[in-house]
Amino acid sequence: MTIVVTGASGLLGSEFVAAGVRRAAEIVGLTRAELDVTDLGATRRVIADTGPAWIVHCAAYTAVDRAEAEPEEAMRVNHGGTINVVSAAAEAGARLFYVSTDYVFDGAKGSPYRPDDPVAPGSVYARSKRAGEEAVLGAGGVIARTGWLYGSGGRNFVEAILDRAERGESLRVVDDQRGRPTWARNVAEVVLDLIARDVEDGIWHVADAGEATWLDFAREAVAIRGLDTTIEGVSTKAWGAPAPRPKYSVLDLRRTEEAVGRPMMEWRQALRRYLAENR
Ligand SMILES: NC(=O)c1ccc[n+]([C@@H]2O[C@H](COP(=O)([O-])OP(=O)(O)OC[C@H]3O[C@@H](n4cnc5c(N)ncnc54)[C@H](OP(=O)(O)O)[C@@H]3O)[C@@H](O)[C@H]2O)c1
Repeated sequence: MTIVVTGASGLLGSEFVAAGVRRAAEIVGLTRAELDVTDLGATRRVIADTGPAWIVHCAAYTAVDRAEAEPEEAMRVNHGGTINVVSAAAEAGARLFYVSTDYVFDGAKGSPYRPDDPVAPGSVYARSKRAGEEAVLGAGGVIARTGWLYGSGGRNFVEAILDRAERGESLRVVDDQRGRPTWARNVAEVVLDLIARDVEDGIWHVADAGEATWLDFAREAVAIRGLDTTIEGVSTKAWGAPAPRPKYSVLDLRRTEEAVGRPMMEWRQALRRYLAENR
């Protein structure tokens, strides 16, 4: 069974390729140079030639703050590109797993978001990802919502914090957003398990267990590394990022845990394992 991964050189896409190698699965990772999903003809041709049973669609415009100034580009890739992948999947008879974001929620709920809870994306990026979700749901596909990812395949929050801490810089980190810090490797493993179980169409929440603020996350990374760095908490408002983010985007994982038959890894344990392997 061949599984195609779009956006294969990205943070998450590269973890799918690595997970495929570990499992000796037939995973074909396609980088943007090999498949630009905004090109409908190329998308149809490449997918038809590869003949996958599944497509894991990781390719995306992911610059959350920049998207506020580039809404057309974010929509072109995250909505238009996903429409192209949906159509190529249908033509090739492949099932589609679209990766989406916890940022589709507005953060007002205050308890973990279930897959069927109402969405209210607050940023350009989140609206473009939701538009992609709608294209997938309209055609009968599968969605994995995740969030707060780190991993070895790209620049991310953990590496940025540790680089600055190792240089002896003092740090300020947002302390009033809560989510689930998640090792991208765990997302790849769980999604491949869901694919192996041939799960039904619809939405699956995939993240590490537990919850934290960005400040908790940063302090844990620095503590695991044994660094003596002062990290000061700062409010979202004072931080002043261009894109709004939900104050609370903890995903309810129960449906996914039942389907794969195990609990998700706790985020601190995942972070320790990641750092043991990568630093
Ligand atoms: N990182 C997170 O915390 C997070 C949270 C929730 C959901 N997600 C979702 O997870 C998925 C993977 O994100 P990521 O964190 O791995 O981001 P990433 O590292 O930015 O990877 C995205 C990949 O998509 C590629 N890409 C961009 N435009 C493309 C196009 N037109 N055609 C083909 N490929 C294109 C990028 O290529 P270039 O490098 O050449 O630009 C990059 O390799 C995305 O759908 C994202 O929305 C991520």
